[in-house]
Amino acid sequence: MAKELLDLKKIPKHVAIIMDGNGRWAKKQGFMRVRGHEKGAKAIRQTVETCAELGVEHLTLYAFSTENWKRPKLEIDTLMKILVSSLKNELPTLRDNNISLKAVGNLSLLPAKAQRELNEVIHATKDNSRMDLTLALSYGSREELITVIKNVASQVKDGSLELDQIDTGVINKHLYTSYMPDVDLLIRTSGEQRISNFLLWQIAYAELYFTEVLWPDFRKEHLIEAIHNYQDRERRFGKTSEQL
Ligand code: IPE
Ligand code: IPE
Ligand code: MG
Repeated sequence: MAKELLDLKKIPKHVAIIMDGNGRWAKKQGFMRVRGHEKGAKAIRQTVETCAELGVEHLTLYAFSTENWKRPKLEIDTLMKILVSSLKNELPTLRDNNISLKAVGNLSLLPAKAQRELNEVIHATKDNSRMDLTLALSYGSREELITVIKNVASQVKDGSLELDQIDTGVINKHLYTSYMPDVDLLIRTSGEQRISNFLLWQIAYAELYFTEVLWPDFRKEHLIEAIHNYQDRERRFGKTSEQL
């Protein structure tokens, strides 16, 4: 599908992607799972560049979940190595496209080397303003919400916040994702139709799009197809069609 088919006035501000299917992609070709992760990491660039080109302001990619720590050690170690090498390789792309890198999740669990590399790229791109690219790493939405609840509760306890003051805005401010708007379009590849603990609060009114395409095969045309499908929907936010 070509970019010209899109309505540039209706581009989602915040696109989030559950990049799933690397393992199945590898298995299909008779490779080890880690080869799928390598291919998957390479597929990210096209999506990032296309989002920036279309005017998406926030792109959030689910790269590693809190539950993924339960995978075999060899797979986790390889994923962390791929993270470090991808960060090194992608810095020029981020610079050239004026993209700022950010990360959400329990980052302290990442290996020291990955944390260092991540912080370097975040620092090097912090003044870029065209698009925020956020990696969800060691991320779990329930863990994020528990952190929010603890922080808010401690403010109530020490008297700096009244119970009645707790509203959507207060919760938003305490989330890892406080700097971004709610998700407009959530894409999941690989045919699975579930959320897997990703941005539970932030997708309250997101449009969901599921595709059979495995993440390593996901290309510009698939992203455009997803956005085209999104543009065909009526987002009512509880109202009636006539009220819009
Ligand atoms: C997504 O691909 C990448 C991560 C979760 C890190 P998977 O590794 O989950 O691939 P499948 O689902 O086994 O095919
Ligand atoms: C979700 O994929 C996490 C990422 C894509 C990083 P999983 O493959 O881990 O999800 P489940 O376990 O199949 O739900
Ligand atoms: Mg999976």
